[in-house]
Amino acid sequence: MELNLKGRVALITGSGSGIGRDTAFKLAEEGCMVVVSDINADTAHQTAEDLRSAGHSAMAVVCDVTKEEEVAHLVSRAQQYGGIDILVNNAGIVKDGYLTKMTEQAWDSVVDIILKGAFLCSRAVLPQMMEKRWGRVINISSRSLFGNPGQTNYSAGKAGLVGFTRALAQEQGRYGITVNAVAPGFIMTPGMRNLPHFSKLQEAATAKVPVGFLGEPRDISNAVAFLASDVARYISGTTVFVTGGRYSG
Ligand code: NAI
Repeated sequence: MELNLKGRVALITGSGSGIGRDTAFKLAEEGCMVVVSDINADTAHQTAEDLRSAGHSAMAVVCDVTKEEEVAHLVSRAQQYGGIDILVNNAGIVKDGYLTKMTEQAWDSVVDIILKGAFLCSRAVLPQMMEKRWGRVINISSRSLFGNPGQTNYSAGKAGLVGFTRALAQEQGRYGITVNAVAPGFIMTPGMRNLPHFSKLQEAATAKVPVGFLGEPRDISNAVAFLASDVARYISGTTVFVTGGRYSG
């Protein structure tokens, strides 16, 4: 299937590592010019450098997605490539704990990165997309939107992102812009592999996945690339679950 993404400009937040980094590579491999963005300067620059070494067009811009002025700077830097066609709202963190013990900071930081980040980045890039009458916004949600114990902040944020996706899809359809979400299940990113209890977690999670194995970042970036393409032009406001068949529980 020809995705026809050649020459498109893609901005991926949180693309210094994990799923975001792989999405940057996948979209670059499909011909996109990539704006790598992360709060972590080292990983952002490393990813962009690795992309360029592989022969792709990439720039790095350090940005905290919860800061309006940093998002404005990010979008203005992307003008160098002619403005953003594809926005992937990928930045996200976890700060797990049962609600009765959760600090206000743990609540605010998780929900802000997920929701305020998607709001600020989308608001900043949409005027350019509306002018071009073509655009893609892809929000990385999570299977946790169904509710995971110890993750009330994260589950609320990721479920909220689906509501955000549906509402924005209805606002933007008339401009040739689609807005969708991808909800990953357990994906084996370097961050996951480095968890001290990884092997226990892996065993428990694998047992719950109907297809019998855990996902890789490429499982997510393939879905993102499909949604970003013209092939998916009639898909908007939906959430694609990339979970190996696991939903709640
Ligand atoms: P990761 O931790 O490897 O990557 C997240 C990136 O976001 C990091 O590079 C981090 O520096 C960056 N970041 C954190 N705060 C930021 C901020 N304020 N502004 C800009 N960048 C910021 O995580 P991973 O696993 O690659 O996750 C990517 C997305 O996928 C997240 O939204 C996560 O919630 C979601 N997800 C991941 C799953 C998994 O199994 N790995 C499962 C379901 C969803």
